[in-house]
Amino acid sequence: MLVTLKEMADQAADKHYAVPAFNIFGYEDILPVVQAAEAMKAPVILAANLVAVKHMPTPFLAPLMVQAAKQASVPVCVHLDHGKNLESCIEAIEHGFSSVMYDGSQLPLEENIRRTKEIADYAHKHGVSIEAEIGSVGYSDPSIQMKHMLSDPEEVEIFVRETGIDAVAISVGTVHRMEEQAASIDFDLLQRIQDRVSIPLVIHGSSGVPDDQLRKLTTYRVAKINIGTALRMAFGASLRAEIESKPKEFDRIALFQAPMQAVFETAKNKFSILGF
Ligand code: G3H
Ligand code: ZN
Repeated sequence: MLVTLKEMADQAADKHYAVPAFNIFGYEDILPVVQAAEAMKAPVILAANLVAVKHMPTPFLAPLMVQAAKQASVPVCVHLDHGKNLESCIEAIEHGFSSVMYDGSQLPLEENIRRTKEIADYAHKHGVSIEAEIGSVGYSDPSIQMKHMLSDPEEVEIFVRETGIDAVAISVGTVHRMEEQAASIDFDLLQRIQDRVSIPLVIHGSSGVPDDQLRKLTTYRVAKINIGTALRMAFGASLRAEIESKPKEFDRIALFQAPMQAVFETAKNKFSILGF
């Protein structure tokens, strides 16, 4: 069933579990991710970022995600990941997404608040949830020129109060696109942030978080854990192995079977680490 992020995240934060938000890039991720959620009887968030939407524009991608959500036996949120402006959020909302993230994390606080509030008001008018980021989760790849800055608890409190968002993404030690699970979460900072806000917390860049720290995150009011790279690595490594081991195979549907299974297994493993 299709649900909003607010419905899903409020419950997760209160009951101390965290829902994985998996980055999806097409049907080959959507299907195994939803199947993994169903196998684990767990809610899940399908997160389409701007790379996904550039490859498969929203009018094509949204119906796949929404249909998968509607026919699933578990709650599924259809979410825009790292929306960069009002227009990208409006497009997602018009095509049936139940949640959007606006990422103004590179902006000064006042400007981030102003733009986030405008998009939050629009989303709420349309019955859609909104997540936004304060502090900044950077990238492990130095060629991506984005600032990395831990969240300041006082700024998080102001940001949440002034914008009216439903969930807040914070920077407490992760960076995007780590290929090793080598991140180190600052749990003291996480606690100090949690003490100041009541809405659910979101952790980005969670492919890089070691399993024991992922488990520990669920004991806080962390309700959404974003995982992208781990699934892309699983799909890519399996596809490479398939192509190398079957040099005569040219049918992509045949070649996609093992990578889809790899996504299914990887997602299932993350669900079980998160306590499902
Ligand atoms: O917004 C998406 C995520 O933060 C995914 O990060 O690719 O490092 O797991 P990751
Ligand atoms: Zn992210």
